[in-house]
Amino acid sequence: MHGPSTARVTAPDLLARKGGSPIAMVTAYDASMARWADASGADVVLVGDSVGMVVQGHPDTLRVTLEDMAYHGRCVAAGLTRAHLCVDLPFMSYQVSPAQALTSAGRLVKEGFAQSVKLEGGVRSAPAIQAIVEAGIPVVGHVGLTPQSVHAFGGFKVQGRDAANAARILADARAVADAGAFCVVLELVPADLAARITAELPIPTIGIGAGASCDGQVLVMHDLLGFDARFEPRFVKRYASLEGPIVEALRSYVDEVRGRAFPTDAHTVRPRPG
Ligand code: KIV
Repeated sequence: MHGPSTARVTAPDLLARKGGSPIAMVTAYDASMARWADASGADVVLVGDSVGMVVQGHPDTLRVTLEDMAYHGRCVAAGLTRAHLCVDLPFMSYQVSPAQALTSAGRLVKEGFAQSVKLEGGVRSAPAIQAIVEAGIPVVGHVGLTPQSVHAFGGFKVQGRDAANAARILADARAVADAGAFCVVLELVPADLAARITAELPIPTIGIGAGASCDGQVLVMHDLLGFDARFEPRFVKRYASLEGPIVEALRSYVDEVRGRAFPTDAHTVRPRPG
């Protein structure tokens, strides 16, 4: 017996968008953010391992655990009614073997309520992608700048600027598609390379710092909304600068508490008459 049908965006829905209406993906890490993303009409909410940087405050994504991702997946799932939920496989939860990758992906579905999982790497990750897809779990690939390899890259740097690197990224994107992924994130690669990959691949490409030709775009919610004024994103657009107004509202609250201006009568519980 099947449960009630839901209106959630599915992996096949997204695959069918190849070359059509662009896919909007945004990250979220808790139920409130998930509700905002859902209300915006975003197609995909990604619980990115960027949680390690923007929520946990670390310099990179490497310390994030599978338990962290499952926890944030559950939080985000609680706020979603429509958008597709994709959850990142964190560093060292899939690199050891295809069997490890499948076990980790299964946990993100069972414990993190993921509809799909994302993992980094092209040619080297293809066996892991294939194992997960064969078990019935949709996979999103991620090539170009793969932040879990930050130490190998020597920093968060644009990838694919010279011919040899561009050829490597093209081969990675092909390998991801051949292994059965239903879409692929292209991070921080030159726009002409992203356009070539998008034209060649049978699956949607989702760009971040990869130009306008991709089949969709993804942004980290903290960058998009300007939650962290210390950091000025270079290759992504900031749509709001909310850190200032948030701190201002908190400062008003603190000042009112100090000045005994809060709570007023309107915020005070009184005994019921009679
Ligand atoms: O972890 C993340 O948020 C990501 C996006 C930047 C694509 O992988």
